[in-house]
Amino acid sequence: MKSATVRLMSCANVGPIDRRIFGGFLEHLGRAVYEGAYDPDNPLSNPQGFRTDVLELMRGLRMATVRYPGGNFASAYNWRDGVGPREQRPVRADFAWQSIEPNTFGTDEFVAWCRAIDSKPMITVNLGTGTAADAAAWVEYCNFPGGTALSDMRIANNAGDRTPHDVTLWCLGNEMDGPWQAGHVPAEAYALRADQAARLMRGIGAAPIELTAAGSSGRTMPGYMQWDRTVLEYCWDTIDYIAAHRYSENRANDSPRFLAEGVEIDSILDDYAALLRYVKARRKSVKNVYLSFDEWNVWYRARGEGNWSHAPHLLEEVYNLEDALVCAQYLNAFIRHADVVKLACLAQVVNVIAPVLTRADGVLVQSIYHPFALMAEHVAGVSLTPFVGTPLYTAGDRGEVPVLDAAAAYDETTGRLCMSLVNRSTTDALRVTLDAADLTMQSDAAGELITHDDPKAHNDWDAPQRVTPKALAVEIGDDGRATLTLPRLSHAVVRITVRKR
Ligand code: AHR
Repeated sequence: MKSATVRLMSCANVGPIDRRIFGGFLEHLGRAVYEGAYDPDNPLSNPQGFRTDVLELMRGLRMATVRYPGGNFASAYNWRDGVGPREQRPVRADFAWQSIEPNTFGTDEFVAWCRAIDSKPMITVNLGTGTAADAAAWVEYCNFPGGTALSDMRIANNAGDRTPHDVTLWCLGNEMDGPWQAGHVPAEAYALRADQAARLMRGIGAAPIELTAAGSSGRTMPGYMQWDRTVLEYCWDTIDYIAAHRYSENRANDSPRFLAEGVEIDSILDDYAALLRYVKARRKSVKNVYLSFDEWNVWYRARGEGNWSHAPHLLEEVYNLEDALVCAQYLNAFIRHADVVKLACLAQVVNVIAPVLTRADGVLVQSIYHPFALMAEHVAGVSLTPFVGTPLYTAGDRGEVPVLDAAAAYDETTGRLCMSLVNRSTTDALRVTLDAADLTMQSDAAGELITHDDPKAHNDWDAPQRVTPKALAVEIGDDGRATLTLPRLSHAVVRITVRKR
């Protein structure tokens, strides 16, 4: 068996991990909202029309925030269509996904859904076909305490409840660099739109809000970094975050290469870290802008056609073990870059490229659910820099990459150390030693392991637990070091109580 070591030191850390890296994304797309989150005629739904089995699984993901209503959908969406008495809401043709949108689920329902899963809403305003005034009006509708036409409308639409929706996270449009996007414009034009919207939205002043500008929609875009630089240089003073998106693919069916996705994700995060530093320096600014990785996942198999139907089966990707291992690497990379990444959203949450699939009589938990749920539950505190000694393997055109991908979190208040470890090897198990210079590991170590012999193993309605976490043995030696075995193709989340030396 091959071996690897991870060395830690409590002072070698990159700062606090923002819990909002454990976010999700719910778009009006396919069966995400309708038949996913909201299904009022289904016996499994509560009086609000929310599927209770979906709510329960969402609670298990402990998502700090959920982004809504898109995605591409957001760029031609009129938020006013989705509020008020349902019978008066218009049915619309959705430009983004060629579907029929009944608008029976809108802002008020979304905020209530977030409350039901103990999460915070993040709303993307329409900067495609919409105006800065529309965006500011949406903020006013959500956050103003009362006494204005829009805030009183919210109160009336919510049976007299005066509690503001208190939406603090707002995205200034979506993927505006993409020619597929409604209202797509060059970077300079988008920067003007975003800056104007930001100023108006903040100007409503009812409550402080945080704003994310749309970054380049992926590393393969011709304007990657150039778009982001233009937007950052123009909007630096009015935004808090720039958005990054990535969907990982294994079209060539090359698992060793695919399993090295973390190398690419790290490199994207390094690109943004460098750009953010550059723009800050150019502007001689004391302010920081951070990264919001507000769409990430594996997605390359499922698409489908909208055919102008309601809730069509779109993007219903079936996830396997190797996809779960890639998802774990996204989260590991966000933790390692905790000083840059403050927000991130798994795209998406139900039915559409999602950890959960529904049918009329139940829910299916997909493989990618598990790394997210485990890490969202156990990762807390500061991100410790893992000094990793690991064998390498050949990952196609990515060259020689580390077999072991590791991230570590240390919560000084509870004395808990949490490590997330991925063995990327398709052939070899790995004996891993964990060693913390100034932290003695105590005996109460625990861990969970996600693995399978077959990288393509997936859960389905006949075998819903094929890929599911199992207990992992973690041994603590007299020398205060921990050892464990990672089978090939595995992800482990390990928790150890530590004492400072
Ligand atoms: O998440 C699916 C789609 O992917 C989103 O609508 C869009 O932002 C991205 O291209």
